[in-house]
Amino acid sequence: MNKSNPRLKQQLEEQPLDTQGFDRPRALVKSIDEDLAPLLDLAQRPIVSANQFSRNQILQLARLAARFETQPQMITRPLTGKILISAFYEPSTRTRVSFEAAAKRLGMHVINISATGSSVEKGESLEDTFYTIQAMEPDCIVVRHPEEGNAARLAAVAEPGIHIINAGDGTAAHPSQALLDALTLKQSFEEFSQIRLVMAGDIRHSRVARSAIKMLSALGIGEIRLAGPPEFVPGESTTAGTRVYNDLDSAVRGANAIMMLRIQKERISGLDIPDAAQYHREWGLNRERLNLADKNCVVLHPGPMNRGVEISSEVADSPQSLIRRQVRNGLHTRMALLLTLTRRQA
Ligand code: CP
Repeated sequence: MNKSNPRLKQQLEEQPLDTQGFDRPRALVKSIDEDLAPLLDLAQRPIVSANQFSRNQILQLARLAARFETQPQMITRPLTGKILISAFYEPSTRTRVSFEAAAKRLGMHVINISATGSSVEKGESLEDTFYTIQAMEPDCIVVRHPEEGNAARLAAVAEPGIHIINAGDGTAAHPSQALLDALTLKQSFEEFSQIRLVMAGDIRHSRVARSAIKMLSALGIGEIRLAGPPEFVPGESTTAGTRVYNDLDSAVRGANAIMMLRIQKERISGLDIPDAAQYHREWGLNRERLNLADKNCVVLHPGPMNRGVEISSEVADSPQSLIRRQVRNGLHTRMALLLTLTRRQA
């Protein structure tokens, strides 16, 4: 499946990072043999968590996403006439817009609902809203909700043929983000086993971190180091298989990938929000800290970023930053997911 590719290896080791061009997605397509069987199985289930994917499913979705990017001629609006309902009960820019853009590029009609401006404001429950939109016979419902487990709860009562995708539930899971993060790392490293990844910041309240830890562990990542103030480091169920650091400098030394996470104020209760300047001094990724890492270390951030808090602008906008590449990969990953789930219903 993941055969060794000397050209890709040389490119990754010797050439300067090309974070926005087509070289890396093209190399990724070549390095993974096409196998549609794992994706057929994926289409039978709702997408609710990051640990429901097999290694082959993740790699095949990554391959399909990279094909969408590098061979746009293959997009012949295969989902024309199908309907996606995007139900976001929490703010979002990247996830909501990229699901909508992905669906439209594939020919789907998209209907957006949010808590504000819908009958949720008149007291309608999540379940009643769900049964209402389900009665309109969409092909796919994408749900973001502040409470953990709600996407899975709705998936359990979804009609056959209506695909549910969890676009983030509380602190629990963000599976499509984990897929795009895995794709982004796979474009920079020949093997997941070569990656020494630091995840730093507010890990405790981060569904992105939980999902990435699960998915990247399943892919055989070399090392995951977690770093953050003690109050932002989660319990053992999340940290299993990782190493926890009490200071960012030690965590970053020798790392070749760093994922910074913002302080998720909207999910924090019973804790003081740290002072931004003080936090940046202790836990922010600036140029000086990044210099402690491998010279080709790549930097990720799921967004939204708080510049000058968990990451400096100098790092966020540097050639080592893959943050915009993550957004681009998010579009193509969601195209791959929507096509995989809904294509066979016609
Ligand atoms: N990464 C992410 O989920 O961003 P949004 O909240 O903007 O969707």
